[in-house]
Amino acid sequence: MDNEPIILMSSREIEKMRQAGQMAAELLAYLEPMVKPGVTTLELNDAAEEWTQKRGAKSAPLGYHGFPKSICTSVNEVVCHGIPNAKQVLRDGDIINIDVTPLVDGYHGDTSKTYFVGEPSPIARKLVEVTEECLWRGIREVKPGAKIGDIGAAIQEYAEAQGFSVVRDFVGHGVGRTFHTAPQIPHYGTRGKGKKLRPGMVFTIEPMINEGTWEVEILADKWTAVTIDRKLSAQFEHTIAVTEEGVDILTLPPALVPA
Ligand code: MF3
Ligand code: CO
Ligand code: CO
Repeated sequence: MDNEPIILMSSREIEKMRQAGQMAAELLAYLEPMVKPGVTTLELNDAAEEWTQKRGAKSAPLGYHGFPKSICTSVNEVVCHGIPNAKQVLRDGDIINIDVTPLVDGYHGDTSKTYFVGEPSPIARKLVEVTEECLWRGIREVKPGAKIGDIGAAIQEYAEAQGFSVVRDFVGHGVGRTFHTAPQIPHYGTRGKGKKLRPGMVFTIEPMINEGTWEVEILADKWTAVTIDRKLSAQFEHTIAVTEEGVDILTLPPALVPA
């Protein structure tokens, strides 16, 4: 994925990405009120699939390298790529990341958020708030001439200062007509290192931040990534474009889109 050329999108293509990104954000907003104790992750998946089909779009995760469902639902110690399951009932105090990627007219809109199920513990609340702030700090580094390492450094500095750790095994990625392409965007790193950002680059920033150690393992289902210490993990993700002015967030939720 990282030896592919980095595609620079025209403003016309970025508008196509915005349509996909807006649909992704709307899908998360649609699912959010369903996140309550008693709901199963399969019910969230099926609601997402039905909504996506009604909009005339496809769920990119479904069948992607054999992934069996339409969205990823990652609960508590699950870092990412949790598979929706009829037997997995959400309980008060859980945290759940929902990651959606509708494919709209050939373009992918990739976004995720971590939600509280009922009332979180103090540590769960802090982890989720710090992780969202990590995403914003990463986004704030994006402008022409900045380096990819600036993004990861900003995220890592803040996460570690708050006593948490940054997952190494999964990174942000170029996204467009292809779901995962160059460049890779690590959520850790060194300022001034890595490739230079240029207008027209479109990629995700999607920090996964752990309560304990950063190390993860993959379960026997070959998808579910969990923390090796089984402590909590949270994640937030936006798809962004580098512009002449700085950054354009393509997956902003409907309420935050500027008029
Ligand atoms: N949406 C995930 C990401 O942010 C990728 C999910 S791939 C799947 O990159 F196959 F697990 F769905
Ligand atoms: Co995603
Ligand atoms: Co992604």
